[in-house]
Amino acid sequence: MDINEITIIGGYNKFGEPEAVRELTVKKGEIFGVVGPTGSGKSNLISDIEQLAQRDTLSRRKILINGEVPPVDMRRDPRKRRIAQLSQNMNFLADMTVEEFLLMHAKSRGIEKEGIVDEIINLANKLTGEPIKKEYNLTILSGGQSRSLMVADVAVISDSPIVLIDEIENAGIKKHEALELLAGYGKIVMVITHDPVLALMTDRRVVMKNGGMTEIIETTEEEKEVSKKLNNIDNWMLLMREKIRHGGRLALEDIEFTV
Ligand SMILES: Nc1ncnc2c1ncn2[C@@H]1O[C@H](COP(=O)(O)OP(=O)(O)O)[C@@H](O)[C@H]1O
Ligand SMILES: [Mg+2]
Repeated sequence: MDINEITIIGGYNKFGEPEAVRELTVKKGEIFGVVGPTGSGKSNLISDIEQLAQRDTLSRRKILINGEVPPVDMRRDPRKRRIAQLSQNMNFLADMTVEEFLLMHAKSRGIEKEGIVDEIINLANKLTGEPIKKEYNLTILSGGQSRSLMVADVAVISDSPIVLIDEIENAGIKKHEALELLAGYGKIVMVITHDPVLALMTDRRVVMKNGGMTEIIETTEEEKEVSKKLNNIDNWMLLMREKIRHGGRLALEDIEFTV
């Protein structure tokens, strides 16, 4: 089944009041943001989507796929949900090389494509300042490397049309590029974030308060410009971090850049 859109039918906030946003549809290729203070219900909203809630969670929200109630087997079996979740803490525990892992994953998805390992590693390396090599053991990857690898893996191998991301701001990866990559592969991307680079590169964002969806904000062209400029600063910070990490020195001329 092709998943082209998901719809969230509003439920109730923490006080049992109906959510202001009654219905929200997010389409393929769209990047959708979730913002709000700590405790406002952001993770809970993402979890409702992940579970394909049918008025059976705290919020009483209902999730539709392509405008319809998803089939029962899709709700019961997490493997059939085809929803990928990326989080701040992402550790590979398996003792195998990057190449072995990717080949195994591709095989389990029935994908036999020549050069797929290099394709994924090249993509991942566009997202991290510390290049990954295929002979690396998964256990030695840094947080930024493993998250970059996961994003590239989800884009190329996983047949998950919906990608949910819970706060990756401190993840040490080029966030802007990561979201663009996922959206470019036709995924529905929902991202929880306080980071202006990410929040402003979304097409729309929902504002959470007291456990409920209160408002939907459309990102303006001006905000998208702001996001790009902030992203330049971010990537520059990443570069400086790498220099320091590799024992380099920084000079004043290193910070002569224009926003
Ligand atoms: N609509 C809701 N109805 C009842 N409880 C909720 C609702 N939304 C969130 N909660 C509860 O409020 C708490 C904080 O929510 P959470 O999603 O973790 O917030 P955030 O991720 O924004 O910090 C959690 O215990 C969650 O179960
Ligand atoms: Mg949270």
